[in-house]
Amino acid sequence: MIKGINLKDLDPGKFVEEQVESIKSAVGDGIAINALSGGGDSSVVTMLGHRALGKRLRTVIVENGLLREGEAEWVSSVFHELGVDVQIADARTEFLDSLKGLTDPEEKREAVTNTFYKKVFGRLVRESGARFLLQGTILTDVDETVAGIKRQHNVFAQLGIDPRETLGYHIIEPLVQLRKDGVRLAGRELGLPEEMLERIPFPGPGLAARIIGEVTAERLDTVRKATVIVEKALADSGAFQYMAILHSDRVTGVREGRRDFGQQIEVRCWDSTDSRTATPSRLSYEILEKLAADITSEVPGVVSVTYSMTAKPPSTIEAI
Ligand code: XMP
Repeated sequence: MIKGINLKDLDPGKFVEEQVESIKSAVGDGIAINALSGGGDSSVVTMLGHRALGKRLRTVIVENGLLREGEAEWVSSVFHELGVDVQIADARTEFLDSLKGLTDPEEKREAVTNTFYKKVFGRLVRESGARFLLQGTILTDVDETVAGIKRQHNVFAQLGIDPRETLGYHIIEPLVQLRKDGVRLAGRELGLPEEMLERIPFPGPGLAARIIGEVTAERLDTVRKATVIVEKALADSGAFQYMAILHSDRVTGVREGRRDFGQQIEVRCWDSTDSRTATPSRLSYEILEKLAADITSEVPGVVSVTYSMTAKPPSTIEAI
């Protein structure tokens, strides 16, 4: 069992120092690699690894095709400013191919996990000569996976999987005792810019976690466009997380006086502190109406927008 660190007991300076030391001693004079998604967790891990290993840390953004609009380029430019070199690895085709034909949520998650860790990372690790992967698993990921709620993409040891045997490299998880709130404090300590730390959480399986049914290039495009609108409209809402979800069922709509059997987007906006429980934000009707109008006019094929009113539990934050 992992012993979590409560926020009130967290000394960010000491935490950073300890983790840097422990990365140094684990990796020795070897090379480590880490996948940066630009979310809080992987950004903090990147800075910890950079501090511990400098150039011996290879930081890669895996462009899996499931990221948000312009995300890989934006994240890489922020880290460039911080003095960290980031490589973007284009793996869009591999991920799309692995998701082809899948509709079951766990199968989709598994496809993303396998493509990431076995195929893409396996290759990157071989190419770089790294024997260690640093990753930003946090305590909530472990809890929910162990409880059988949802298989988070980045949990192995707690499921009895030995990464060294199955993947051929060690996994180091410096944040595994923290939750989101603790990760933010550590990030501030490491000098990460607020715009990075204040970003809303984004899941490892990316937009695939927000598509009900099959993930295709076209459907990704739809949910990506809706995501831009939702994120812009709710940026100042103070909510914990907000997103657009693409449904698989179609509904009848009307456009230019004609029947249009179109797609549905569900908007979710959550109030939460640590993502274990969450409630829908009480957004104003003005905001909701504008979201509906903007999404139906700007995202091709969408004729209906709904707002989720269900708390977690029984909902979860993401859709799959
Ligand atoms: P759920 O949907 O499980 O989400 O209520 C809880 C929080 O975790 C994020 N999330 C993930 N993060 N890998 C991650 O790194 C995942 O597979 C994953 N699934 C969900 C989600 O966005 C929310 O903040």
